[in-house]
Amino acid sequence: MKVKIEKLDIDGFGKARIGKKTIYIPFTAPGDTVEVRKWHREKRKLVAHDYDVVEPSPLRVNPECPYFGKCGGCILQHLPYAEQIRFKEEKLRSILGFDADVVPSPRIYGHRNRIDVAVSTRGIGFRRRGTWWDVVDIEVCEVFGERSRTALKALREFIEDFKPSLYDIKKNTGFLRYIVLREGKFTGELMVNLVTGEGTLPDDAESYFHFADSLYWSINRSKSDVSFGDIEKFWGEEFIKEKLGDVEYLIHPNSFFQTNSYQAVNLVREASELVEGERVLDLYSGVGTFGIWLAKRGFSVDGVEVNPFAVEMARKNAELNNVYAHFMIGEDKDVENLGAYDTLIVDPPRAGLHPKLIKKILKEKPNTIIYISCNPKTLASNLAELSEIYRIESARGFDMFPHTPHVEMLVKLNLKV
Ligand SMILES: C[S@@+](CC[C@H](N)C(=O)[O-])C[C@H]1O[C@@H](n2cnc3c(N)ncnc32)[C@H](O)[C@@H]1O
Repeated sequence: MKVKIEKLDIDGFGKARIGKKTIYIPFTAPGDTVEVRKWHREKRKLVAHDYDVVEPSPLRVNPECPYFGKCGGCILQHLPYAEQIRFKEEKLRSILGFDADVVPSPRIYGHRNRIDVAVSTRGIGFRRRGTWWDVVDIEVCEVFGERSRTALKALREFIEDFKPSLYDIKKNTGFLRYIVLREGKFTGELMVNLVTGEGTLPDDAESYFHFADSLYWSINRSKSDVSFGDIEKFWGEEFIKEKLGDVEYLIHPNSFFQTNSYQAVNLVREASELVEGERVLDLYSGVGTFGIWLAKRGFSVDGVEVNPFAVEMARKNAELNNVYAHFMIGEDKDVENLGAYDTLIVDPPRAGLHPKLIKKILKEKPNTIIYISCNPKTLASNLAELSEIYRIESARGFDMFPHTPHVEMLVKLNLKV
């Protein structure tokens, strides 16, 4: 069956009608003519897996990545970047019901400061799109940059010399499971974390990764397929640093950091310009990315975060930058005294704000809320509830994740007068 792609759905798949069905076709562009033969169900969608683009859309550009079309990471690399931004603006409009500009990322290759590369019997690389069990073997990841080539080459040499067993995803056996790369884009510092199952990593491993400022060995003792574990040993620096503007942040294998440093600095700067008053609560504060930036600018900052290790990192970051900010371990639903703050910053996980927190906000009425969201759907429903007493002052998208359908939002709310 021949179909024409009119538009992409919010997950970046081309949409086509076949009879009464809507079929979603990955890696296609508006204007493509596609011959579709077979599809299967993926959650709530029928997704094509046997198809050919018979007449490519004039919109298409050549992806930089040789694995485009197989790897599940960057599914929009075939679209010009301006088109990707238009797609994200349209996605926001359809979910939020209002217009918001999306600020393009300053870089669209080499921008990611972290990649988690599976080391498996199927290959060393990223998940094949649409599978949990297959891996696309890669030599380089263009969105991380050339240093991924160096690190993956070193890993292959190490594997060839020592012949450790590699992880079998289906059987859940094997020693080497992941290599995670982190790079301070503004400092040039590189961290390599080898994640293994139980076993012994030869001490010589270090000599293969001499180019890294920090090498970690972590053991994942669980059955879950995650790219972190208990720290067994490290060589070189305990932390690497990243710098956003005039603020330095420490990076540790088990701590989160905004993954696109070039755009994170724009997001943090703009968020800080929206703050009103003096007293700020940075809720879901993580490693203190927003709080420390604000403390450096003279605001009085408290931070609340559920993950004790992130709080420890935030405190270390405050010390590193010579600022005072008070970071506490706590949960969103338990925060007290919201009315004592002039501005409340929230940067929740994808699930959005806890319903009890929304109730507290509506009762205690902090004057200004700055909402940073990685999920426009939960943002939309949280905004609807807050609109009882808040009005939207400004709303902008930030493209933190070029070539993917994801988009970050920065929204400022003020109490209605
Ligand atoms: C999107 S991240 C924000 C990180 C932070 N703003 C930063 O840039 O480093 C969400 C954070 O919320 C924290 N979190 C998740 N559930 C929470 C809860 N119930 N209460 C407080 N913090 C929570 C996570 O540990 C994570 O650090």
